[in-house]
Amino acid sequence: MEAHPYCTEKDVTERLEEYGTRLMAWYPLGHGDKKLINEDVFVKLAEKYGKTPAQIVLRWHTQKGFIVIPGSSDERHIKDNIDIFDFELTDGEMEEIAVADTDDPEEAYSAVKACLLRLSEKNISKKRTPLDPTA
Ligand SMILES: NC(=O)c1ccc[n+]([C@@H]2O[C@H](COP(=O)([O-])OP(=O)(O)OC[C@H]3O[C@@H](n4cnc5c(N)ncnc54)[C@H](OP(=O)(O)O)[C@@H]3O)[C@@H](O)[C@H]2O)c1
Repeated sequence: MEAHPYCTEKDVTERLEEYGTRLMAWYPLGHGDKKLINEDVFVKLAEKYGKTPAQIVLRWHTQKGFIVIPGSSDERHIKDNIDIFDFELTDGEMEEIAVADTDDPEEAYSAVKACLLRLSEKNISKKRTPLDPTA
């Protein structure tokens, strides 16, 4: 399923945990969404660990337990994308990154827009009940 820091599929991953199953993250870099990759928190952590912001995003994925296969046609990026196993984000940093997760359609941006809209629809349908279809 689509998963990245703007869209963590919390409900799904909690359910998968019951079965020891992992989520494979499609669009792990938000399809290369520069707004996502260059969020302040990733730039700050990239400086701290001597990595690129994209590497921080990918490291976040692995620490979340996601299976992650980023797409790239750039040799430098491909090398960077596997060079994420010599550092570890702290629990506090993982929590800090969690703040980027949003289901506000106003925040929708490029490739992540569809994901945010889907979450928004899910939340709207959650609020409806058979007795009150207009709620
Ligand atoms: N089964 C499905 O329906 C489905 C749906 C969606 C996605 N997926 C899978 O998800 C995987 C990834 O999808 P995706 O490639 O569309 O999205 P993605 O991995 O989120 O993003 C790829 C984009 O990020 C850029 N990028 C990669 N590494 C980077 C780096 N280190 N720094 C900066 N930019 C970087 C790439 O540009 P460069 O080429 O310039 O590096 C490319 O534009 C694929 O394996 C795909 O098959 C599957």
